[in-house]
Amino acid sequence: MIRPAELIERKRDGGELSAQELEELMLGYARDEIPDYQLAAFCMAVFFRGLTSAETYALTEAMIKTGETVDLRSALGRKVVDKHSTGGVGDKTSIAVGPIVAACGVPFAKMSGRGLGHTGGTLDKLESIPGFRVELSIDELVAQVRTAGMAIIGASANLVPADKRLYALRDVTATVDSYSLIAASIMSKKIAGGAEAVVLDVKVGDGAFMKTLADGRVLAETMFGIGRRADREVVCLLTDMDQPLGRAVGNALEIREAVATIRGDGPPDFTELVLAAATRLLALSDLGVDEAEARRRAEQAIADGSAHRAYERWIRAQGGNPDEDTLPQAPVIRTVDAPRAGYIARLGAIRVGVAALHLGAGRQTKTDEIDHAVGVVCLRKRGDAVGAGEPLAEIHARNAATADAAAAEVLAAYELADEPPPLRPIVLDVIG
Ligand code: URA
Repeated sequence: MIRPAELIERKRDGGELSAQELEELMLGYARDEIPDYQLAAFCMAVFFRGLTSAETYALTEAMIKTGETVDLRSALGRKVVDKHSTGGVGDKTSIAVGPIVAACGVPFAKMSGRGLGHTGGTLDKLESIPGFRVELSIDELVAQVRTAGMAIIGASANLVPADKRLYALRDVTATVDSYSLIAASIMSKKIAGGAEAVVLDVKVGDGAFMKTLADGRVLAETMFGIGRRADREVVCLLTDMDQPLGRAVGNALEIREAVATIRGDGPPDFTELVLAAATRLLALSDLGVDEAEARRRAEQAIADGSAHRAYERWIRAQGGNPDEDTLPQAPVIRTVDAPRAGYIARLGAIRVGVAALHLGAGRQTKTDEIDHAVGVVCLRKRGDAVGAGEPLAEIHARNAATADAAAAEVLAAYELADEPPPLRPIVLDVIG
């Protein structure tokens, strides 16, 4: 039987832990035999000392062993591809990618999470669609993927239960942004959820856990390494999160933008990321196509309307109404105007994310109710020109007071300059 204090001490002093020790630590924690305070100290030791690649893989396997695993390959008789984002502001990528991939004949079964801090969660966004159910059993998920081609559901409580507890603990002990802990958290859920190939969207910048491209690369390589050891194919897209993705930040607003993008009418950065992710998913699937053909098929699914039809099929199958007119709308809409003419040099993602959070689009405490109608639409983004008094953004609020507060926060997120900033693509690098 391990002594947690001894493991914490060894990691604190830069030593290495065995797979057996990590397994006992995780199983003991999941069974409530090891208290939160010892895991908090362990996470802090890992934050400063890191884990070797063998330890990171062992931690991932240990976390998987705390719960059930799902075998979608046997249930569906097809190779299952999945995508995951490390979290950002305005990130509705899965909601647009899923229908495109499904329209191309590849099953898309995804378990998603809720928002955390200033980053939004796919489940919260989907719940702004009237009637949409996120709590499906694995049997219902499989049946729906067979009939409708895709499903996005909340992960069952028994899928990597150690991660659920550990994540909440890390969130309040300043240990979220550790490469090894993020990599083990994400990869344990993907492997336990039955994905054979995964496209990982590693966000980099002001609104992401990884602030620099160098940090993002380390995280991507760590996840890639876990995938290789677990015999899973992994492709990591390192993508820009220095400004919000697309224009919309806030649940129903993001659903509208995802649908517009599926119809071919989305913002350029978001459309490019959606196509980049869909292309990699199709190329990793059992269709047997290369990336050029995969991209052609993804673009075709948008152009011929089949992706939009796949979206409507999916939403109906999951109990929702796909008609955009039924999405909630905020009663107060006001613009944030440019104080002078110039170019947008910066648009801080965190500031916009926090403004949306204060409007009610996210939770400030675990039990907060989300207001699905509210949020921010960034009408101008980095590199755009603006005239004095022209609108920079639109605030969708419940009342005038919250609208005013959010307008001030969003204005502070914009930095204007006389010259346009250097161009920065949405996909910064690809690993794998
Ligand atoms: N997303 C996860 O699922 N886990 C982390 O630790 C960070 C982002």
